[in-house]
Amino acid sequence: MADSQAFACTAVLPPPRGEVSAALVEILRRLPAEHPSFPDVVDPDPYGEDLQLALHLCYELHYHGFEAVDPAWEWDPELLRLRAELERPFLDALRGDVKGGEDVREELSRLLIEPIEAADISQYLLQEGDWAQLREYLAQRSIYHHKEGDPHAWAIPRLFGQEKASLVAVEFDEFGGGRGERLHAQLFRDLLTGAGLDNGYLHYLDSTPAPMLAVVNMMSLFGLHRRWRGALVGQLANAEITSSPSARRMVEALEKLNAPIECVRFYAEHVEADAVHEQVMRHDVVENLLRHEPALAESVAFGIQATNLLEDRFSAHVLGSWRAGQSSLRVTT
Ligand SMILES: [Fe+2]
Ligand SMILES: [Fe+2]
Repeated sequence: MADSQAFACTAVLPPPRGEVSAALVEILRRLPAEHPSFPDVVDPDPYGEDLQLALHLCYELHYHGFEAVDPAWEWDPELLRLRAELERPFLDALRGDVKGGEDVREELSRLLIEPIEAADISQYLLQEGDWAQLREYLAQRSIYHHKEGDPHAWAIPRLFGQEKASLVAVEFDEFGGGRGERLHAQLFRDLLTGAGLDNGYLHYLDSTPAPMLAVVNMMSLFGLHRRWRGALVGQLANAEITSSPSARRMVEALEKLNAPIECVRFYAEHVEADAVHEQVMRHDVVENLLRHEPALAESVAFGIQATNLLEDRFSAHVLGSWRAGQSSLRVTT
């Protein structure tokens, strides 16, 4: 079935947010054969705007790339060296800011506890959110949902047996079950259109602050490095387990604000699908993975914990901005 809706499928390079991202944007405007000089990454803020945008630019080369940027940059050794220099402080910060351990069962069961009301964006939107705040939230989340399921596809060739078959079953749903118009990324584009927002790929990248970029960068980091396949599975398990109740609240919030049906459809789909995905991830993927590769327990637990950490940081940023009467976006839509 044909994709019915035209949309911009390549992003434009965004304005930089500091020294490293400024140097990287200049580099990407040139050709690898010109051998532009690369910046040093000195004492970066691991969660800061400059590092997170620079990392996002490096990773995007492995997805759709940017308009007028040479695709050869994807595997340029100097660019990969810079990416490694950006990944190191980010990973160190994540490792240092979570409690660690390898009790995956305990980590998974903790996800079933409902989030504290005051710290949860979907609860806020349901109880006191307005349409402008809802649009802000959708604009930032689009940076992830435009590539929904994509970073996790990198896990497929790195798994065996039932865990591989079951992860592919989850991904089959994320990718629309064979129907382009049912791709979850497409459902989100329809949602953006319904909300009067631009549905172009990464259209809101410049508007999106570091806390959301960090969530997406973490998935790309775990996806691109085979050694972090356990963490990638942990991240996906976390997302699937926590998604269904929050999607239900989003449906209620959207209906309360009389949002068009296209907006409701994306979250309604996730109430149903993720209730199933939760069970598949928990029992068929995680349990089998740890039975076959028990040494990955620490990595899976890390993926779950790091996801909590970065989602909490994102919620704190958004809710903190709204409660202060400010926009949570860098550039308003
Ligand atoms: Fe989905
Ligand atoms: Fe899902």
